[in-house]
Amino acid sequence: MSLEIENIKEKALKEGVPIIKDEGLAFLLNLIRERNCKDILELGTAVGYSAIHMAKLDKDIRIDTIEKVKEMYEQAVANIEKEGLEKQITVHFCPIEEYETDKMYDLIFVDAAKAQYGRYMEKFLPNLQKDGVMVFDNMIFHGLIYDVENITSRNLRNLVRKIIKFREFVHNDERFDIMLFDNIGDGILVLTWRKSGT
Ligand SMILES: C[S@@+](CC[C@H](N)C(=O)[O-])C[C@H]1O[C@@H](n2cnc3c(N)ncnc32)[C@H](O)[C@@H]1O
Repeated sequence: MSLEIENIKEKALKEGVPIIKDEGLAFLLNLIRERNCKDILELGTAVGYSAIHMAKLDKDIRIDTIEKVKEMYEQAVANIEKEGLEKQITVHFCPIEEYETDKMYDLIFVDAAKAQYGRYMEKFLPNLQKDGVMVFDNMIFHGLIYDVENITSRNLRNLVRKIIKFREFVHNDERFDIMLFDNIGDGILVLTWRKSGT
């Protein structure tokens, strides 16, 4: 990891900006390498930490990443410029709900509002290549999915219940093949289109 990325990570952690965990990141980068993904959509930029890592894998990788918080967006743009990656990464400053595109992606990395995962999935499925992959972070939400009834905050309990519902939903949806890795980082879900006839 370059000193610059190390600094971005340390600053983010110090300021409480949520960024992908090391293990989840290693898994994601490996998936991108293995599947030779070139066009990537990321939902939830924060300060650009994961986008910078993904772009650094290969100079032909192009990333659209979406962020709605101005301060995050500005930090991400500055970090990306510092790394000289502005030709590879475009940060879109808008709510994910308002982002419209007909571009097709090899990989869609979903890392924004956890309660909206189902909505994000349906919104961007038309943009996923037939052999593409959708990856969701925080599928165990700090382990809270295993102990939902003991969560005292009502809001947090509702959020965790939504994640559990989303896990059940994709599990039972015949459009997809899914792989759930609860033991990697904060839990990673990998979803691919089910091949017809299987
Ligand atoms: C977990 S952080 C992203 C971390 C980043 N992927 C990384 O690992 O470096 C989630 C980000 O999504 C943004 N976000 C949440 N809901 C959003 C929405 N509806 N539209 C756009 N951005 C959103 C938050 O502001 C936050 O910066």
